[in-house]
Amino acid sequence: MKVPNHIAIILDGNGRWAKAKGMPRGYGHIKGCANLESICDDIKDLGVKYLTVYAFSTENWKRSREEVDGLMKLFRSYLKKCMKSAEKNKMRVKVIGDISAFDDDIQDKIKKLEDFSKDYNELFFQIALNYGSRDEILRGVRRLAHDAAEGRLDPDKIDEGVFENYLDTAGIPDPDLMIRTSGELRLSNFLLWQLAYTEFYFTDVPWPDFHKPELLKAIEKYNERDRRYGGVKEE
Ligand code: FPP
Repeated sequence: MKVPNHIAIILDGNGRWAKAKGMPRGYGHIKGCANLESICDDIKDLGVKYLTVYAFSTENWKRSREEVDGLMKLFRSYLKKCMKSAEKNKMRVKVIGDISAFDDDIQDKIKKLEDFSKDYNELFFQIALNYGSRDEILRGVRRLAHDAAEGRLDPDKIDEGVFENYLDTAGIPDPDLMIRTSGELRLSNFLLWQLAYTEFYFTDVPWPDFHKPELLKAIEKYNERDRRYGGVKEE
């Protein structure tokens, strides 16, 4: 079985999973967070080199105060615990998204974790926090426009490679497989540029129940696909 080099996951369904059990939404996020830790281990064991997860979107601030506060509390404890997983899995962690909207202590924890893990290279783990693809593209375009206006960049030399360097994912290869859990069939502003040629896998299984057997199913389906990139199939 061919293992994708880069898997991206939209972690969806924590709230509905908890509701179905008669529990508050926050309980679903706690279980979702625990599942993220174990999927990271599974991904590493399978030999996948890059994992990118969508944990908090630019739209998620619109949720109730109680839910957002609960998520921030969870991020705080997760970012601390993640140092241990980073060490264990020799995993470099990078947060993508606009982190300036988070409280200072969360921003500090992110910087500490990124710095602590910067020399690991067995697994590259990107966590999207306060992330929206349109926002990422606009932030990149703004920097690019400044570089052009100030003479550091020739507008005629702007190609895909140059543009990609202005994205939060600069230097990270595009995902080969994108998984979305819990039944919704949309991208929700996730990696719009980077997913141009990616295979999609949608499942009804909610994120807290998405364990290794489900991951293997997704990789099997990926193996059945015929990835041609617009070329001609090799017989
Ligand atoms: C989607 O479920 C999930 C989120 C908005 C938050 C994702 C967070 C985690 C998996 C836990 C923490 C992650 C980190 C990186 C610490 P939903 O609430 O949209 O579920 P619903 O669609 O059933 O309402």
